[in-house]
Amino acid sequence: MTRVKRALVFALVAAAWPVAAGAQDAARGEALFMRLCKGCHRLTDSVMVGPGLAGVTARRGDEWLRRWLEDPPAMRSTDPDAQTLSKPFRSHMRKIKDMESTQNREDIIAYLKNASGGLNK
Ligand code: HEC
Repeated sequence: MTRVKRALVFALVAAAWPVAAGAQDAARGEALFMRLCKGCHRLTDSVMVGPGLAGVTARRGDEWLRRWLEDPPAMRSTDPDAQTLSKPFRSHMRKIKDMESTQNREDIIAYLKNASGGLNK
């Protein structure tokens, strides 16, 4: 492919992406995380009420994360990985109203991708 063609393809993909996948906004995701998740999760290995989320976007695929965030109880009753994960916890993650929104889930996942390799949040 010539450079011009490559640039054109890139521009087309970049233009189409937000429509196809829902634009992910990590900054919005951070605000949501601080409000809804930080009481139970750190982005380190430290276990709080819930598991530390260091490396979580490497451990879990986007689709798994979307399903988990949308409905943790349903995942605990159907998904073997969610069942294994839940075993050591006495109180479990509940359904969170704001996670019914696809946009909110995408934004949190974008934030986790940026931040879950981080060490000190
Ligand atoms: C009341 C505490 C609590 C809140 C609030 C909470 N979680 Fe959780 N979370 C848990 C627990 C406990 C687990 C472990 C699975 C289980 O037993 O439900 C978990 C599991 C997870 C996992 C899977 C981790 C892994 O290693 O696979 C992710 C991802 C996650 N939570 C993200 C979030 C996000 C994002 C929010 C905010 C929107 C959130 N959680 C809010 C308690 C919480």
